[in-house]
Amino acid sequence: MKILSIESSCDETAAAVVEDGRNVLSSVIASQVEEHKLYGGVVPEIASRRHAEAIVPVVKQALNDADVTMDDIEAIAVTHAPGLIGALLVGVNFAKGLSLATGKPLVPTHHLRSHIASNYISHKELKPPFMCLVVSGGHSHIVMVEDYTKMKVIGRTRDDAAGEAFDKAARTMNMPYPGGIEMDKIAESGDPKAFKFPRPVVHDAPYDFSFSGLKTSVINLIHNMEQRGEEIPKADICASFRSAVVELLVSNTIKACEDFDIKTLVIAGGVSANSLLRTRFAEESEKHGIKFYKPDKSVCTDNAAMVGSQGYYEYLNGNIADLSLNAVATLPIDYR
Ligand code: KG4
Ligand code: ZN
Repeated sequence: MKILSIESSCDETAAAVVEDGRNVLSSVIASQVEEHKLYGGVVPEIASRRHAEAIVPVVKQALNDADVTMDDIEAIAVTHAPGLIGALLVGVNFAKGLSLATGKPLVPTHHLRSHIASNYISHKELKPPFMCLVVSGGHSHIVMVEDYTKMKVIGRTRDDAAGEAFDKAARTMNMPYPGGIEMDKIAESGDPKAFKFPRPVVHDAPYDFSFSGLKTSVINLIHNMEQRGEEIPKADICASFRSAVVELLVSNTIKACEDFDIKTLVIAGGVSANSLLRTRFAEESEKHGIKFYKPDKSVCTDNAAMVGSQGYYEYLNGNIADLSLNAVATLPIDYR
């Protein structure tokens, strides 16, 4: 079964054709990142306008690249939540129009569930149940994935998401948006023990995260050094900060696997591209006898192939919307 999938929750306009949830026939991404870089972060109004311009050519190209027409497509999956509302509305309304014109079923798809599904593309043998750490620009969740469309949140951030903490720390050092990628690169040449950043734990909630204290601590350090006229040792700061974030993510997630006796661990979301996170999870999983899966780097950040994958399982589970479907800015991952 071929699904046409559409993603517009943040600053990427994307469309893909995916067969049976696993086989990507095409995947097109129009990124707006160069424009948002000018402002140091995503400007929602600009994002919506660029989606409106890009959506038709991106969908056309996805169909062309897959060498199919709408006649070959059996359903249209679209990210309807969570994300920037004006951005989501572009994809949702386009998908509704296409569904109305073609009579193909409309499958609303949760963005974070799609991030998890990026692993189904990279690992054809992977099936639930498993524990998943979903770390993106807006979310940091430990999720028990009981089945493709049945999940439970085990832990979450109480304040900033991991990606957000990376981006804000990077911005303080005048690194281009999105700073997480840049920090990861620069960290490679730094000393992770050069600075001791706090590693906050949330009392009585062993799987929850808190990154705001860590973020404030790195920002204060940089401001103090600037005030003293000192040169900022970027590589050492990046390495020390990355190490603190990664150790928090790894320790809580491994603990969740152990406590719930889950032997399969998966990571997903933009931050899952982080090189230290990938190697540390591989090491710790091996130590604890856990099988570890990570998405290919090409599907870590926002794309529509993952939407086509999750959309397939949503469709099989009867998650089909009528034409009153709306975009939703915040929606829990276990909403249905
Ligand atoms: O999943 P994503 O593409 O968008 C959201 O759904 O939010 O994630 C984007 C986030 C950004 O905060 C970006 O800085 C972060 O993922 N990111 C990274 C890396 N690559 C992307 N953070 C740390 N290390 C990376 N290599
Ligand atoms: Zn995302």
